[in-house]
Amino acid sequence: MSIRVFVFLGPPGSGKGTQAKLLAQRLGIPHISLGDILREEVRSGSEIGQKVKSLIEAGRLAPDEITIALAEKRISREDCQKGFIFDGFPRSQAQAEALAQMLKRENRNLEKVVYLEVDKEEVVNRLSNRRSCKKCGAVYHLVNNPPKEPEKCDLCGGELYLRHDDEPEVIRTRFEVYEKETLPLIERYAQEGKLLKIDASGTIDEVFSRLWEALK
Ligand code: AP5
Ligand code: MG
Repeated sequence: MSIRVFVFLGPPGSGKGTQAKLLAQRLGIPHISLGDILREEVRSGSEIGQKVKSLIEAGRLAPDEITIALAEKRISREDCQKGFIFDGFPRSQAQAEALAQMLKRENRNLEKVVYLEVDKEEVVNRLSNRRSCKKCGAVYHLVNNPPKEPEKCDLCGGELYLRHDDEPEVIRTRFEVYEKETLPLIERYAQEGKLLKIDASGTIDEVFSRLWEALK
């Protein structure tokens, strides 16, 4: 059986987590969000968490050596043997280079880099209405994908909150960082023939249908 490795790229709020999770369910491989892993480090108060807390809260990137080590550790786990989906990794040239080396060492092939394209206005709306579960990390949108009961997670009953980096000031910084550090990767993967551009406007289901059709 072939090993399937995907990367999801796109601006903050483009729907990377939402779509990567749907694809992961469909394919039966894990969804790996570096943002989720880093937030968990912060929540647990680990040494890594203490190092990255202020960077994440300010909308800046965590240091490459930290994210690369976390990514490598995660994909060495048993559940990644049939493949995995990275969401929000790589985000810099150094991370892209490290991923290429990791895959080469394991004799694995990057299948596609899904690039979610959507305009800034839509993304700001998505982020300011996003609510995340404190306990299990599930993601909602107050208008497009609301929880059944206000402020309560459908899955685990946990409390919903607005991510610290979804404040308007921080969203602005995240965009700047994205444009400077991550956008150049689009060119890199286009040259490698790996890039799959997906129009990420419209409903969650519409975007997923587009993605699924394009992957077939
Ligand atoms: P991360 O958590 O990855 O944040 P991000 O890239 O800014 O992206 P988001 O998670 O905000 O958005 P998303 O694209 O996943 O959208 P979602 O599906 O939630 O990273 C956070 C921070 O961690 C970084 O700033 C950095 O500090 C650090 N970090 C992470 N990775 C790193 C790395 N590799 N290197 C260094 N530092 C790193 O959707 C958004 C909202 O819209 C939700 O409410 C959703 O329900 C809704 N929605 C989704 N799709 C639709 C749709 N089609 N229509 C309507 N609503 C929709
Ligand atoms: Mg996300």
